[in-house]
Amino acid sequence: MTAARLTTRLTERLGLVHPVILAPMAFAAGGRLAAAVARAGGLGLIGGGYGHRRWIDAQFDEAAEADVGCGFITWALERAPDLLEHVLARRPRAIMLSFGDPRPFAPRVHAAGVPLLCQVQTRADAELAIEAGAQVIVAQGAEAGGHGDRRATLTLVPEIADLLAARSPETLLCAAGGIADGRGMAAALVLGADGVLVGTRLWATAEADVAEPMHAAGLAADGDATIRTRVPDLARHFDWPERFTARVLRNRFTDRWHGREAELGRAGEAVDREWREGWIAGDPERANTFVGEAVGLIHTIEPAGAVVERMTAEAAALLAGR
Ligand SMILES: Cc1cc2nc3c(=O)[nH]c(=O)nc-3n(C[C@H](O)[C@H](O)[C@H](O)COP(=O)(O)O)c2cc1C
Repeated sequence: MTAARLTTRLTERLGLVHPVILAPMAFAAGGRLAAAVARAGGLGLIGGGYGHRRWIDAQFDEAAEADVGCGFITWALERAPDLLEHVLARRPRAIMLSFGDPRPFAPRVHAAGVPLLCQVQTRADAELAIEAGAQVIVAQGAEAGGHGDRRATLTLVPEIADLLAARSPETLLCAAGGIADGRGMAAALVLGADGVLVGTRLWATAEADVAEPMHAAGLAADGDATIRTRVPDLARHFDWPERFTARVLRNRFTDRWHGREAELGRAGEAVDREWREGWIAGDPERANTFVGEAVGLIHTIEPAGAVVERMTAEAAALLAGR
C-alpha cells in the first residue's frame, strides 16, 4: 500500500492533509476525537449536538491546541441561538449545520470568517445550503449512522454534484453515509465529491466517547443489524422533526416499540426511564447504539489517526489503479 496523499479542492481550501471530516456526532465526538482527527490532518468537528454549552466548552478545552470546529443540530440551535456566538468566540476551524434551515445562522458564520459546512439530505436542502452561501455541502445518505432522511448516498451525491456544477461551482461537496474504508472514499470522489465526512468508522476508535459495551455491540454487528427508527427519540423526549429518523442497532427496545410509536408515547415514564438509565450505563440492550450500515465493515477499535491515514492511502491507491 502506498502512503500516497489525496489532494482535492477540500484539502486545498481548508488546509487539510487528508480530505476527511469527522462527523460532529452528538455525545461521541468530543474534544479528544476531534483533536485526534485534526492532528492526523483531517477536519475534526466537535459534536455540539443538542447544545449543552458547558459540555461544548469542556470539549474545546480538551482539544487544547488542536484546531477543531463544531457542528450543531440546526433545529436545536434555533432554541438557543446565543450558543453560535459563544462558539464563534472560540475561533472554531469550521462550523457545520445539519437538520434544519441554515439560512438564519449563515450570515453570522460568514461575518466571523469561519468556513460554513451544511449537511443536507435532499436536493431541496442543498438549494437552501447554496442560498446560505455554504462553502461545503455534505450530502448525507440514509446508510448513515444517527439521524438522517431517506435518500441513498449513491444517488444523492452525484445529483448534488450536478446541481453544484450548474449553479454554484465554487461550493465544495462532501459525501456522508456508509463510508468506512478506502473503497467508500474512492467511490465518493468518483461520484463527484471533494472529500468525505465519516461518522460510524470514527465512532469505532479509541478516542470516541463511547461506552465499551456499545463498542463491543458495534464490532459484533453486521450491516443488517441496524434500523431507522424514531423510538429512541420518543423515549428520551427529543423533539426531532418527523422526517428525520435515527439509524441505530436493533435491540430489545426497537423490537418491542418500532411500529408501535403511539403506544410508546402512552407507555409512561418507567419505559422512558429504563432507556435513559440504559444509556447512562452504556447498555446496548436497554438503550440504542447509534451507528450506520457501515458497522458491518468495522472489526477493530483503532486510533482515529490510523483510520484517517489508512482510508486515504487505500483510496489513493484505488484511484491510481483506475
Ligand atoms: C453516533 C452518531 C451520532 C451522530 N450525531 C450527529 C449530530 O449530532 N449532528 C449531525 O449533524 N450528525 C450526526 N450524526 C450523523 C453524521 O453527521 C454523519 O452524517 C454520519 O455519521 C455519516 O454516516 P456514517 O455513520 O455511515 O459514516 C451522527 C452519527 C453517528 C454515528
